[in-house]
Amino acid sequence: MKKRLDQQRRRVLQGLSLIGLGSLAPLGLFADTNSAITRPIPKSGEQLPAIGMGSWLTFAVGDDPRAIATRVKVLEAFFEMGGRLIDSSPMYGSSEEVIGECLARIKPGKKLFSATKVWTTGWQQGVRQMKRSQEKWGIEGFDLMQIHNLLDWETHIETLKAWKAEGRIRYIGITTSHGRRHDELVEIMQNEAALDFVQFTYNIEDREAEQRLLPVARERKLAVIINRPFQRGGLFDTTLGKPLPPWAKEIDCQNWAQFFLKFVISHPAVTCAIPATSRVDHMRENMAALQGRLPDAAMRKQMIAWYRKVS
Ligand SMILES: NC(=O)c1ccc[n+]([C@@H]2O[C@H](COP(=O)([O-])OP(=O)(O)OC[C@H]3O[C@@H](n4cnc5c(N)ncnc54)[C@H](OP(=O)(O)O)[C@@H]3O)[C@@H](O)[C@H]2O)c1
Repeated sequence: MKKRLDQQRRRVLQGLSLIGLGSLAPLGLFADTNSAITRPIPKSGEQLPAIGMGSWLTFAVGDDPRAIATRVKVLEAFFEMGGRLIDSSPMYGSSEEVIGECLARIKPGKKLFSATKVWTTGWQQGVRQMKRSQEKWGIEGFDLMQIHNLLDWETHIETLKAWKAEGRIRYIGITTSHGRRHDELVEIMQNEAALDFVQFTYNIEDREAEQRLLPVARERKLAVIINRPFQRGGLFDTTLGKPLPPWAKEIDCQNWAQFFLKFVISHPAVTCAIPATSRVDHMRENMAALQGRLPDAAMRKQMIAWYRKVS
């Protein structure tokens, strides 16, 4: 049955191409979750879709029913278009509660790859906070627990090793978004064998991670989550009203969001980018970057040059 549906879908897409409407597919109107771009988690080989979702500010909407109803739609679009990894933190106000409320309504089951953070000092406080996050999300355990901004990481990493051994979490990670913490992060990446994931900032404007973080992550076989892929939305301000290059269609980009995301996920050390959005139309644009062709090294250089020219 599934095979027949896949064949029918392929025929529809081929038909659209023949009549010149094939470009609707990358727009996400006919998203094929089977052909979504995935990347392996280096230490396990498990495949993850190369685009996930962040939740800083965008999901911190408290108990406003209308705002929550919109977030349910945002997350429905995310899962429908092949998304899995949701990133949050106890630092993000009511985001974890709102994610929990959305998950209870959507019931994504095994589609969900849950990732949150521990952001406090002290062993006991860390354990308490992580258990509280589990309750907020309404799940039994997290796929990935990350130490937020390196805070008291020597303490938390011991707890996380024990939790992983007990099967309470599946992967251990650590995050930052500050260039000034890069030296310390590199040292941790090089010396802490228990790490599975690392998260930091990388986008077409802020490319500092290319110097050391990305090469070290590759060498140490760490999965890489990229935060701020849109530089907190700043990339859209810079390119407002500016045209995409004519060759953007060669990498199936219909808009700037896809241009920026494909730039990030085409770096060979990147596992997944986590753009945040509060809007269904933006989610659809972002998730459509999981389809179609990616730039090669030469085109990545062209993308940087074009961005510099228009910004
Ligand atoms: N240290 C850490 O651990 C750390 C630090 C920073 C971030 N993070 C994580 O990384 C995630 C992403 O970073 P971020 O939220 O700072 O910034 P971001 O994802 O780079 O940018 C988010 C902004 O982009 C806008 N946007 C999204 N899609 C768009 C589209 N298609 N067209 C136009 N605008 C669009 C959003 O506005 P709309 O709502 O209007 O779409 C929002 O204002 C965070 O949410 C968080 O989960 C972690």
